[in-house]
Amino acid sequence: MVGIINDAFKKYYGSEGELFASPGRVNIIGEHTDYNFGFVLPGAIDKAIYAKIKPNGGRLCRVYSIDYNESAEFSVDSNELPQKHLVRYVFGVIKEMQKLGKRVEGFDFAFGGDVPIGAGLSSSAALESVVGYAISETFGLGLSRFQLAKIGQMCEHNYVGVRCGIMDQFASLFGEENKVIQLDCRTLDYKLFPFNPVGYKVVLLDSQVKHSLASSEYNVRMAQCEEGVTTVQKHVNGVESLRDVTLDMLNTYKGEMEEDVYRRCKFVIEENQRVLDACAALERGDYRIIGEKMFGSHRGLSKDYEVSCPELDYLADYAANYDGVIGSRMMGGGFGGCTINLINEANHDAFINEITEKYNRQFGRPPRVIDVVISDGARKL
Ligand code: GLA
Repeated sequence: MVGIINDAFKKYYGSEGELFASPGRVNIIGEHTDYNFGFVLPGAIDKAIYAKIKPNGGRLCRVYSIDYNESAEFSVDSNELPQKHLVRYVFGVIKEMQKLGKRVEGFDFAFGGDVPIGAGLSSSAALESVVGYAISETFGLGLSRFQLAKIGQMCEHNYVGVRCGIMDQFASLFGEENKVIQLDCRTLDYKLFPFNPVGYKVVLLDSQVKHSLASSEYNVRMAQCEEGVTTVQKHVNGVESLRDVTLDMLNTYKGEMEEDVYRRCKFVIEENQRVLDACAALERGDYRIIGEKMFGSHRGLSKDYEVSCPELDYLADYAANYDGVIGSRMMGGGFGGCTINLINEANHDAFINEITEKYNRQFGRPPRVIDVVISDGARKL
């Protein structure tokens, strides 16, 4: 990958630059909890967006997407949203930096990577993070990883249109090899846990369904959670988000909310508890309990939060009924993308062969198998 980026930069701009990388992420458990100020348990992976950057002495930002063979340029002083979707990530990060009073000069930029797009591995957060990290380092802006995560999230809100939480950008920037991050999305306190499931493999099965509904439905889910909070707030002091709402409170005021709002909120409250239970199990090295929580998470995402799809349900249900798979669930925003599976090494090949054949028969195409290794976050190469 690095060779491809180096060659492309040289060919396109005729010069050398500095190389940076920022990875995609997996999330062991804790889905749709981040924007509800709850807990998540992600880790960075060994698939990243790589970017090369060089100041060009002017005010122009020239961007080249190697994978899409697409280019664009805009002035760093412009406030006009670029037409090309990918370029908006670069533009948005610059604008968010400028809001913080940072001075960004013109630069040449080429990027590409091996984070599968639309598979729920946060290729967009990887891009925002590498853009932010590379610009901050290149122009000595002194932005912390916390600030860069926030800048990436705001870029997504203000220039891409998804009101996402902070999990993906945080994981891409703070990830460490063989460790997962328990992040409290309210305080941004975090704790790294060694993730070492001896005898098991973490495998992603990509349904190959692109999550096209994701951004609109995502914002709808967020609004439903806010609606639930508003109802409880009328009765209980000190409630600011679902993080402050207990199941008892929710059940008490259930009659005052739409049935689907109730189920969305119930899922989030239960999912937060599952993250805490999974972290306690991680401290004991009990991967079976973590797996059980993953199955529970999928059931909730599918039935209560309703962000799954038939293909993801098929993959997760098949795994749940297969001896040797100790945990499985859909991962990320939903409506497509991957399941994350914890598979006993001894059963790995047989399981993959079987599910590939069955899924293919059911949906007319095989799932894509993606092996991941939990790896370091954003870095200069
Ligand atoms: C997407 C968002 C994250 C998070 C997940 C769901 O990946 O970018 O902030 O909300 O969905 O857990």
